[in-house]
Amino acid sequence: MCGIVGFTGRQQAAPVLLDGLEKLEYRGYDSAGVAVSDIDKNGEPVVEIVKAKGRLKVLREMTDDGRSVPGTCGIGHTRWATHGEPSVVNSHPHYAKDKRIAVVHNGIIENYQQIRERLTKEGYSFLSATDTETVAHLLDKYYTGNPIEAISRMMFHVRGSYALGILFRDRPGEIYAVRKDSPLIVGRSDQGNFIASDVPAILKYTRDVCFIPNLEIVKLTDQEIHFYNVDQEEVEETFSEINWDTEAAEKGGFAHFMLKEIYEQPKAVRDTVSPRIKDGCVDLEELGMTGEELAKISRIQMVACGSAYHVCMTAKYMVEQTARVPVDVDLASEFRYRNAVMEKDTLVIVVSQSGETADSLAALREAKKRGFRVLGIVNVVGSSIAREADSVFYTWAGPEISVATTKAYSTQLAAVYLLAIGLGRARGVIGEEAEKEMTAELMRLPEKIERILEEKERIQWFANKFSHSKDIFFIGRGLDYASSLEGSLKLKEISYIHSEAYAAGELKHGTISLIEDGILVVGVATQKELFEKLISNMVEVKSRGAYVLGVTSYGNYSMEDVANYTIYVPKTLECFAASLVVVPLQLLAYYVALGKGLDVDKPRNLAKSVTVE
Ligand code: AGP
Repeated sequence: MCGIVGFTGRQQAAPVLLDGLEKLEYRGYDSAGVAVSDIDKNGEPVVEIVKAKGRLKVLREMTDDGRSVPGTCGIGHTRWATHGEPSVVNSHPHYAKDKRIAVVHNGIIENYQQIRERLTKEGYSFLSATDTETVAHLLDKYYTGNPIEAISRMMFHVRGSYALGILFRDRPGEIYAVRKDSPLIVGRSDQGNFIASDVPAILKYTRDVCFIPNLEIVKLTDQEIHFYNVDQEEVEETFSEINWDTEAAEKGGFAHFMLKEIYEQPKAVRDTVSPRIKDGCVDLEELGMTGEELAKISRIQMVACGSAYHVCMTAKYMVEQTARVPVDVDLASEFRYRNAVMEKDTLVIVVSQSGETADSLAALREAKKRGFRVLGIVNVVGSSIAREADSVFYTWAGPEISVATTKAYSTQLAAVYLLAIGLGRARGVIGEEAEKEMTAELMRLPEKIERILEEKERIQWFANKFSHSKDIFFIGRGLDYASSLEGSLKLKEISYIHSEAYAAGELKHGTISLIEDGILVVGVATQKELFEKLISNMVEVKSRGAYVLGVTSYGNYSMEDVANYTIYVPKTLECFAASLVVVPLQLLAYYVALGKGLDVDKPRNLAKSVTVE
């Protein structure tokens, strides 16, 4: 996610801003900038912006650690690109027309294209490709001298998530802020007042903070802080004392980035799905493919590594069920060398969180060399796979710090669902009613993930019983087999416990010989047609001494006749079930690793992005 810091006080602002932005570096970014308000030599108020692509040290060198930027009131930003490549022109802050206003933003403006088109017709010109610049010009359009009014009016026109820091040139010394769904806090101290995306940015100066309520506007001067609701009425807010240490603060109070990112999944899925659903229908315009081109796709070849490969395995079942397009799935390291036989109208889809995985990038280049169209499902904007693919479908999970992927995985699943529905419609396999039913359920997934997270103690209790296992097996059928693969990988990569995932029907062909007393077998069962079959497989292993954990949807209470312990997830359309069952499997892995006292975020031998063969 982007990082925002603002300061208005009785000392130079730019050094304080750079300091704060440094404490937000863990959030991941590709460029940074500051805007500081001052009075020029003619006594006129000005807002100076300095920004640079790359690490903060570039900005530090440009500004002599901020000392060359005068003024005691300013806003700063580290950008994690979502709309528009990483570049100086796309970095924040952004000016509005005539530099009357400067804005920094964290979030996604879902209707930015419509706003941009309308403002362009009204004479506004855009320098960047960002969604943020539309907010700057919209504020300019509504600013007639009352900042609170301009912000309030902007809010009625903008859809999506935002945390905004705003400077109005004719209001030197004042910072304005507003948030909807993206985090933003206010801090107060005897040196001045702050806004920030997260506590670490200001912990050095104050622990006296207020987490701005959603849809509230804040006005800060060096002495005062005022809160307003969207109707421009002043409201009172309470401040609290932060007692986290700096390290805990970077993780938002969570013990590890992995747990924080597990908890960010509802928002990540919401941010990925909702901008692509308009009036209940999937909008795949960003792929740059017409309905006819989508309908012409005769086959899909999916390629990825690790967890992204498990997304492809899920996609095989889900896309074939929804769009009736045959889907082949390959590990990238295999695909790149096997000279696959592929039909002419095959669409190659490469899935990658980092967009830099060497095997996946090589597979992309192999497919392109052979003349196939490549779609990238990628989380990092401007990454190699994103740049080299013919089309890219970004997952908006934000930066994922923990080596074990969780929220990026969930957003990749969401991306696959959207593609499947769009393909199904283009091919006439599903009608508008089915599409609207599916998209409505997609929009409900975040709240269902939240419900699972509310019951994490049950999973934590169970995990502690198995922290010292030597072997743990996962079994499932159909979509649940793909989820079993992911559950097994999550567990072994952070707990170092040997684990295997098997298509449940395959156990009796050899592996069942490994089952002995006390071995934990996790049975994943969400697919109605296959439920009884999976139960039989669980009986098979239980009769050979296994301890069986069942993971299934509410309502499938017969699971308790077989399983020693059962974890339920909310009901959903069966084709989306992978998005729910993965959450308890992530938590199981996390708490088993925690129980072993391991470094959950940085497991041995692993890297976040495998950029070598
Ligand atoms: C998953 O938890 C692992 N960190 C790993 O398997 C990862 O999914 C794989 O290396 C692919 O990475 P990518 O999505 O960045 O291409």
